[in-house]
Amino acid sequence: MKIKKWHGILVVFLLSWPAGAEQQKTNTYVGSASCRSCHEKQYESFMNHARKSRSFESVQKMKKGLTDDEIRECYSCHTTAYGKKGGFIDPAQTPELKNAGCEVCHGPGKLHVDTQDSSQIIRNVTIDSCRNCHTEDRVNAFRYKPTIYAGSH
Ligand code: HEC
Ligand code: HEC
Ligand code: HEC
Ligand code: HEC
Repeated sequence: MKIKKWHGILVVFLLSWPAGAEQQKTNTYVGSASCRSCHEKQYESFMNHARKSRSFESVQKMKKGLTDDEIRECYSCHTTAYGKKGGFIDPAQTPELKNAGCEVCHGPGKLHVDTQDSSQIIRNVTIDSCRNCHTEDRVNAFRYKPTIYAGSH
């Protein structure tokens, strides 16, 4: 009986929690184009030089003969935040996240875009974060052993 009552109070409390406060705390992925207006230089350089900015095409090119499951495996590295909350789902639902964008290195950008607060974005990108995708296997199979300033902007 007692527990039920407290439960009721908790529900009322949560329902009356201001929606705005909850939203503010939720960071999520927005896609590289959202960074353009304030970081034109990095954006242009990234779009013109980094192959990440076209990484979805690479998957498209090789998709013949692959099963849907196999194709989805490619997404973990060739898109932005596939499988993570607020990340890439599929090209129809989340077209802005279909390539590996700014946020694969700098983390989810929503809060930073809204506030322009630099403490809300990852500034000190570390080489460890590259290793999520540039695994030893990939490095051996392809060309690039990543160095921190390569492949970005
Ligand atoms: C509405 C403008 C705006 C947008 C949009 C924006 N930023 Fe920023 N960003 C800023 C400002 C302002 C700073 C602070 C610059 C400074 O302190 O010199 C900043 C700083 C940064 C920094 C450096 C932080 C530091 O401590 O020096 C990074 C990295 C960054 N932004 C990445 C991004 C990414 C990635 C996106 C897109 C997801 C993005 N920004 C979108 C305004 C913006
Ligand atoms: C989310 C996965 C992911 C992360 C994290 C990642 N990369 Fe990449 N990177 C890729 C993919 C995928 C490609 C190849 C794109 C293509 O050709 O389709 C690539 C390409 C590159 C290239 C090839 C040359 C070029 O200019 O595009 C370099 C160099 C590179 N990345 C460096 C880095 C570095 C350094 C880091 C860490 C700071 C990093 N990457 C983090 C997925 C990632
Ligand atoms: C573990 C992360 C990861 C996965 C999973 C992954 N890739 Fe990649 N892929 C990379 C990285 C990193 C590069 C860039 C490597 C380099 O150039 O050194 C790359 C490069 C490529 C390239 C460009 C090669 C070239 O020489 O230009 C193609 C095409 C590609 N991947 C297709 C695929 C396909 C198709 C799948 C799924 C079957 C897939 N990748 C899965 C990380 C990954
Ligand atoms: C492959 C990883 C990677 C990607 C992708 C990437 N960045 Fe960066 N970014 C870095 C690194 C590394 C630094 C340098 C951090 C440092 O100095 O410690 C940096 C620094 C920055 C800075 C600070 C100013 C400067 O140029 O040093 C801004 C702003 C920024 N990035 C914005 C962006 C935007 C916008 C995009 C997408 C268009 C993007 N980044 C994509 C790795 C990346």
